[in-house]
Formats: sequence, C-alpha cells, structure tokens
Amino acid sequence: MDLSPESLAALRLDYAQRGLDRNELDADPLVQFGSWLAEAHSQNILEPNAMILSTVASDGQPWSRTVLLKTCDGRGFTFFTNYVGFKAAQLSKEPRAAVTFWWGALERQVNITGRISRTARAESEAYFASRPLASQLGAWASPQSCTLESREALEQLFAETKERFEGQEVLCPPHWGGYVLAPETIEFWQGRRSRLHDRFRYTRSEGSDWEIQRLAP
Ligand SMILES: Cc1cc2nc3c(=O)[nH]c(=O)nc-3n(C[C@H](O)[C@H](O)[C@H](O)COP(=O)(O)O)c2cc1C
Repeated sequence: MDLSPESLAALRLDYAQRGLDRNELDADPLVQFGSWLAEAHSQNILEPNAMILSTVASDGQPWSRTVLLKTCDGRGFTFFTNYVGFKAAQLSKEPRAAVTFWWGALERQVNITGRISRTARAESEAYFASRPLASQLGAWASPQSCTLESREALEQLFAETKERFEGQEVLCPPHWGGYVLAPETIEFWQGRRSRLHDRFRYTRSEGSDWEIQRLAP
C-alpha cells in the first residue's frame, strides 16, 4: 500500500499508557535500566536488547547503527563487534558514543552517553565461545565494513572459512571482541499524551552520586 506524503505527515500516535514519576526511579540508573529492559523483554518486543549506537568520525561526521547489548552491569553497557570496521576505526580516534533504545510497545526510550573501552580479552573469548558455530565462522569470514564485489563473494569467504576450520574449535578472532560503554548520562523517556512526555536524566560528576533532573519534552 502506498504511503503518500500527506499520510506520512499525518502518522502519529498519542502516547497514553502511563506516566513516569520522579519517585518511581531507582537512585542507580543501571538498576532502573535493568527493570525497564526486563519489562521490554516480558512484552515480547523483538530484540529488546537492540540499541542504536552512534559514534563520531574524525571529521565530525556522526554515524549510527544497531548493535545488541550483551551485558549491563556496574561497568556499563557491553556489545560485541569487529575491531576493524567503521565503528571500531571511529572509536579508536574518539572513544565516546551514544546509544538509544526505543521500546515502542511500552512507549519508552532510553538514551545513554559515555566513554568506550574494549572489554578484557578473556571476556570477549568467553562470549565468542557461547555463540553459534555459524556466527563464529561469520566473524572470521566477514571483512566488516569493507566493499564486496557481490553476495557470492561473501558466501565464498564463508565457505572457505568453514573448510579451514573443519573439525577444529573456532577460537575468537584477534579482530573481534567487546566494547563497554561507561555511562556519563542516562535518560529515561516515557511517552505521554499531547507530546507532554516525561523525561528524567541522570548525570554524575567524577566520584559523586548520580543526580536526577526532569527535562522538558
Ligand atoms: C538488530 C541488529 C542487531 C545487530 N547487532 C550487531 C552486533 O551486536 N554487533 C555488530 O557488530 N553488528 C550488529 N549489527 C549490524 C550493525 O548494525 C552494522 O551493520 C555493523 O556492525 C557494521 O557497522 P559499521 O560498519 O558502522 O562498523 C546488528 C544489526 C541489527 C539490525
């Protein structure tokens, strides 16, 4: 079905499920995030741990893409990827990032900013070992972010990798591993009627407790 420019402009929802009050918020934003993530998971949202990760190139150009959150603990938010693709090149020059979660079924958004570092090698290896074999082979086979001649070229690389590792354990490639985003700000957004949404942002200066402020929508 066609979506005319007028219909596109008219697409809107009034968010009416619930509000978010200051006194509902945990003092620790990671605890608060954990409870929202668990609720998103219980709603059968597709990939509730998918987050839009934004990084910045050295010319100032921001780039965004989706990655999967794999751990959320006192260190922050961990995801795994290739260490030689675009995002890795950007993070090596500018180790800061922003991530956004959008859980439409709950009318909720979470925005996080912070500093990025690599996870310990042992952690990357342990997570890699838990992945399905095809994903392990894919990490060796795919030159992430490089130009490919064709789909067949990618399938050929995969077939060659499969043959190379036949009958062997597939270990974590040196060019693959985790990053952890240590949060500096975390904002919880709950959609409300008439665009009068609730927003609370946690910020923290070095060594002090988290402060929470309500922001205008
Ligand atoms: C739902 C979803 C989850 C994804 N999860 C990951 C992930 O965890 N790690 C990853 O490297 N790429 C993941 N991707 C692919 C990335 O969005 C992206 O295409 C890839 O990492 C290359 O990004 P880059 O060229 O900016 O480095 C995912 C894509 C989608 C749509």
